[in-house]
Amino acid sequence: MSSETQHREPRIDQFLSGPGARVDRWRELLDVAAAWSSGTTSRAKFETALAELSILEEFFGYPGPRMLAALQESAAADDARTTLRMVRGIAAALATRSFQRELDVDQANEGDSVPDLMPPALGKGGRRRPYFETLIVTGVPAANWPALAAEWRNLRRPLDAFIYEPVFVASFEDAFCAIMLNPAIAAVVVNEGFEFRSRHDVPVLRTLSASMNEHESSGTSTLRLAHVLKRVRPELDIYLLSNHRVEEMAGNPKANVARRIFYAVEELLELHLAILEGVQDRFETPFFDNMKKYAQRPIGTFHALPIARGKSIFKSDWIRDMGEFYGETLFLAESSATTGGLDSLLEPTGNIKKAQEMAARAFGADHVFFVTNGTSTSNKMAVQALIAPGDIVIVDRNCHKSHHYGFVLGGAQPLYVEAFPMTEYSMYGAVPLRTIKQALLNLRAEGRLDRVKMVDLTNCTFDGHIYNTRRVMEECLAIKPDLIFLWDEAWFGFARFSPFLRPRTAMGAANEIEACLREPQALTNYEKQRSELGADPSDDALLNKRLVPDPRQVRLRVYQTNSTHKSMSALRQGSMLLVKDVDFHTVEAQFHEAVFTHASTSPNQQLIASLDVARRQMERL
Ligand SMILES: Cc1ncc(COP(=O)(O)O)c(C=O)c1O
Repeated sequence: MSSETQHREPRIDQFLSGPGARVDRWRELLDVAAAWSSGTTSRAKFETALAELSILEEFFGYPGPRMLAALQESAAADDARTTLRMVRGIAAALATRSFQRELDVDQANEGDSVPDLMPPALGKGGRRRPYFETLIVTGVPAANWPALAAEWRNLRRPLDAFIYEPVFVASFEDAFCAIMLNPAIAAVVVNEGFEFRSRHDVPVLRTLSASMNEHESSGTSTLRLAHVLKRVRPELDIYLLSNHRVEEMAGNPKANVARRIFYAVEELLELHLAILEGVQDRFETPFFDNMKKYAQRPIGTFHALPIARGKSIFKSDWIRDMGEFYGETLFLAESSATTGGLDSLLEPTGNIKKAQEMAARAFGADHVFFVTNGTSTSNKMAVQALIAPGDIVIVDRNCHKSHHYGFVLGGAQPLYVEAFPMTEYSMYGAVPLRTIKQALLNLRAEGRLDRVKMVDLTNCTFDGHIYNTRRVMEECLAIKPDLIFLWDEAWFGFARFSPFLRPRTAMGAANEIEACLREPQALTNYEKQRSELGADPSDDALLNKRLVPDPRQVRLRVYQTNSTHKSMSALRQGSMLLVKDVDFHTVEAQFHEAVFTHASTSPNQQLIASLDVARRQMERL
């Protein structure tokens, strides 16, 4: 394909194309730069392509406005060779993320490399600190941003555990686009006085934001923006800066969306330290951190574990190659101890407990159980703990076999419902909602609805079919308000961290339902539906209506299991069981029994550590 035919006008609200498309766009620019350098295209073509790409690049810290300006200058000076070198350097740095490393700036300037390829002031010495970007929403004119960026960079200290670049935007819409487009953003500073509309064309956003009031007063729009950002990217730390109404703002319960509120005149260093502290809080991995310390300590073990600290490996001529293959740290970290901060998976009170609490926060659950024998075990635990003999479970016939074993253990009576067949693709879809509702209505007609305890579904299937989890739960709760939902998200754990997929996850939907049930509108909607359906609606009427539950009756009880090892960086068999259940206290003891039933008394420490670490990574660092 000719480089000149590849350009598309970039739109900043094309969120689904995401970071991958960005690297592609740089590669395309590289092609145009190469064509210009070899004389097969004009400088004007390159400048047009660069100008288009620069619109998207406004939302990224690297290469940033300074390097983009240098590129423009180099093109304006008609220096095709230098321009090509610079584009090549940036494209490579983006593709490999090498720009995130602290490299010696002088070294980067040597030889053939492009001057100023690395973000300025990243320090010297090649020590690599985790990198992120901080979004600054401001009313300050764009002409002052370079000076402001310099001020932020001047705050960097060798002691800082992380390094970040500031990214500036001037409007509500641009702030939204920035957090959607740029996954490296980990913190947001919202100043007062920003505009509502982007200066770019954002038709997608305009339809979404049609209901928003763009003439809100400054304080309200600050909070509104903070809420919108937090809803889309719950892991972000948000800092609000106010010129005058700090106490008033801090007193507003809606302001709890912010990690901290600052006087705009306060020391910038305070804000810098707060940002680093916020990221540090998520960076912590209590169990893994302690495991690293444990491995470094000169511990003599008297446990029956010959492999601990590599003793039986490195002294043996016969298996030393295993030690060499895996490295000694693995064996230094092997232990059967539950002391020294390693905690017990069976009854966690220390670092495992903390790690589970952090995972609960990250996944939007109330509680998390780490499981070291796969989701096969998480499912058995959940079913065993929640089901009493004789309880009916409505379950997808194509569910994973662990559910069946769970039913056997708990004495459940499964009522199988059929998934939507997609024979032309040799696969099954999800179970149609109508089928699930019909099953509930049939049981009601038979006088057995009170025995139905749980709806147990696979979200997503191996082939990628996902449910409208919110709708399924709301409509089922409208028929039986105390149903428990078990969503087997073995393949879908990662979805929590995508703004697009989160609403389709068990926890994403449960949080949305919980928030909606609190609104007075929930009761109004229910009353309206009741008057429309009448006192004794037919099955057809109930099947054909999008039902809403009675908020006064609902007991929201949602469980999710996920194979963290399938979609995140956990070692094989690393799994989590997530709980969001208003009545958890009534089953907590059974869950502990289920843990005792299924967990080994010798759980694998590396697996637990990898669950802790997987959570850290998914919180985008
Ligand atoms: C839907 C579903 N649930 C549960 C499991 C079991 O998960 P694990 O392999 O983590 O035990 C699988 C495994 O493939 C699965 O596909």
